[in-house]
Amino acid sequence: MAHVYVLNGPNLNRLGTREPEIYGRTTFDELAADCVRTAEALGLSATVLQSNDESELIGWLHRAQDEGAGVVINPAAFTHYSYALRDACALVTTPIVEVHLSNPAGREEFRHTSVISGVATGTIAGFGMDSYRLALRAVATLLVT
Ligand code: DQA
Repeated sequence: MAHVYVLNGPNLNRLGTREPEIYGRTTFDELAADCVRTAEALGLSATVLQSNDESELIGWLHRAQDEGAGVVINPAAFTHYSYALRDACALVTTPIVEVHLSNPAGREEFRHTSVISGVATGTIAGFGMDSYRLALRAVATLLVT
């Protein structure tokens, strides 16, 4: 069965109580369970991970590449400035979809730049939990068919 890593960056472990007017009330554990269920329904197995640490996220991207797994990544604030994370995304040759719960393009100016988008297969933003579901669907289409 094809595998996908769903990687989540800083502060996403606080979902549910973190600025719920922007990010909703779904907790990280609920989001993770939903991703596993969604992936299974699409014929994928999924590992959902979260870290506040850039180097850990980079290590997981290397692992995805080594295993030939697809990637859904919400780089959170690293989206806007982490060239190290961008370079790690760039070395992934399997489908890699950038996701955001909110629509960064409609928020503060500093969020309008993504250093990740240019090296992702595609980006889905602004649909809350559905951003992840749509991203998993895109990865499944590219990996399985
Ligand atoms: C986010 C958007 C980022 O700008 C922000 O730093 C986050 C979450 C989103 O999912 O909407 O932490 O990636």
